[in-house]
Amino acid sequence: MPSYLITGANRGIGFEFVRQLSSDSSNTVIGIVRDKAAAEATVAKELEGRKNIHILETDVTDYNGLKRAAEATAKITGGGLDYVISNAALIPFWSAFEPLGELGKEPERLEKELAECFNVNVIATVHLINLFIPLVLKGEAKKVITITTGFADAELNAKYNLSIAGPYSISKAAVNMVVAKYSAEYAEQGVLFLALAPGMVDTGNMDKLTPEQGQKAMGMMGKFKDYAPDFSGPITPEESVKLMRAVWDKASVANGDGGAFLSQFGNKQWL
Ligand SMILES: NC(=O)c1ccc[n+]([C@@H]2O[C@H](COP(=O)([O-])OP(=O)(O)OC[C@H]3O[C@@H](n4cnc5c(N)ncnc54)[C@H](OP(=O)(O)O)[C@@H]3O)[C@@H](O)[C@H]2O)c1
Repeated sequence: MPSYLITGANRGIGFEFVRQLSSDSSNTVIGIVRDKAAAEATVAKELEGRKNIHILETDVTDYNGLKRAAEATAKITGGGLDYVISNAALIPFWSAFEPLGELGKEPERLEKELAECFNVNVIATVHLINLFIPLVLKGEAKKVITITTGFADAELNAKYNLSIAGPYSISKAAVNMVVAKYSAEYAEQGVLFLALAPGMVDTGNMDKLTPEQGQKAMGMMGKFKDYAPDFSGPITPEESVKLMRAVWDKASVANGDGGAFLSQFGNKQWL
């Protein structure tokens, strides 16, 4: 009867984790969201009758909120937790389609976006893991998955001149190091930490772009094609989550996967 804790559980890839994992009624699925009432309404509408879903409310940058969520999780599960899926992230728009040099023309705004990305995507992940690791150590599966991105692959960025999305990419590269550090700390106790990229996934974010941003996004797609000639556009959350689940099912500390930065294919092929 595995238990799962997922942040950013109300929409996008996070909601798809909830949907797939709760389809097995023997799983306990706990979602952290910022608006509990809205998330519960979505669950009631789209996943009607699933009694194994529990929604907890906190912003992931609120340490005390995360602490309360860890306490509530222990009550739901009886003390242990099998999987933590750190999925919530700030994916900023302003800095998404310009290089750092261009963004630097507005230094205060750039500094703010760098700090916000670091706060949500890195510091909150550290707090999340510190608060939930006592539960994971009491669980069976002992797997902590942090959702990252291929944009955090420094060599890829350099080779294909991916100059855009600096603050986001920098914060995700940092969270990959968070994953490696925790693996170094907890591998001997059997906890698997993975930084797992989902591929390019259609979660509706591209629909929110201005026409100018849309054009820049098309330019980015051209570079993606150079990298992966077979790339035919974003995959669905359903496909991405199925692929990622297969990666973490197969991965283990014993196989040497602890702390790895992997794609949805379980390797370094990001698209
Ligand atoms: N989609 C892609 O193509 C893609 C590619 C590479 C990596 N990823 C990664 O995959 C993960 C999910 O992406 P997505 O596309 O599903 O994103 P999304 O649809 O934009 O959803 C982001 C989720 O994070 C939550 N969140 C953001 N800031 C939060 C905070 N401070 N406290 C609590 N929750 C917060 C959001 O909650 P609210 O609804 O309250 O805002 C939302 O549930 C992220 O880690 C992202 O970096 C996605």
